[in-house]
Amino acid sequence: MLVSAKEMLDKAREGKYAVGQFNINNLEWTKAILLTAEELKSPVILGVSEGAGKYMTGYKTVVGMVNGMLEELKITVPVALHLDHGSYDGCMKCIEAGFSSVMFDGSHYPIAENIEKTTELVKICRDKGLSIEAEVGSIGGEEDGVVGMGECADPNECKAIADLGIDFLAAGIGNIHGKYPANWPGLSFETLEAVKEKVGDMPLVLHGGTGIPADMIKKAISLGVAKINVNTECQLSFAAATREYIEAGKDQQGKGYDPRKLLAPGTEAIKATVKEKMELFGSVGKA
Ligand code: 13P
Repeated sequence: MLVSAKEMLDKAREGKYAVGQFNINNLEWTKAILLTAEELKSPVILGVSEGAGKYMTGYKTVVGMVNGMLEELKITVPVALHLDHGSYDGCMKCIEAGFSSVMFDGSHYPIAENIEKTTELVKICRDKGLSIEAEVGSIGGEEDGVVGMGECADPNECKAIADLGIDFLAAGIGNIHGKYPANWPGLSFETLEAVKEKVGDMPLVLHGGTGIPADMIKKAISLGVAKINVNTECQLSFAAATREYIEAGKDQQGKGYDPRKLLAPGTEAIKATVKEKMELFGSVGKA
């Protein structure tokens, strides 16, 4: 059964580790992530962007697939199904479809509007038992065609949003979605410390987990980050393994064109990436 992400993230913050949110795109992604979490006895959050939800034909399909897998694969670790960077309407649709957690990304609105919309969604999520993440200071890079510049959040705005009753907060600290450019100055720990000081025990979320050096990840966790989002890195691993298979001509040998064979190396590569991240984040054995 899907669970809200609140309890697993409160525990992570207390225990000074982070739970990974891994974004899903299809059956192979979902299966790879769930099997790895179960094998490593780690809690896990499955992230679904609005674009990925559309790709999978809609949120109801996603809920059906994930619930089916939890049962068929006999998954016992805590799993949350979470809308990533949701609009107000997207959140409403996911709440109705059976997600257990949503992120409302109002970071592109003026703060008063972000507060107003977040307040409404907090109430609905509370009533239905879902967890809710909000964002202050837009995360840089490109995601589903939305380009942000990697802002550093205003700690006072973070406090204003945290006080609305959300369960965890994404604050921009110079992080970017996708690959980091060579001249990226790194995470702003000064901002992270200032945010932490204002919001106290609220678990913090680090987006753009792909390519952040291990020492920065560890430091971020020590300063209150309890959820780390990873998407691009699984895509890169999947693509590299699939390329290798095709370039070696394996799709032309025997029944190598069978999608169950063709997609297997990519699926294994996602598992390896998820395992590496769970080990780095410290969530192994915490289920
Ligand atoms: P990356 O694609 O950079 O790993 O970021 C994922 C993310 O933050 C999803 O919200």
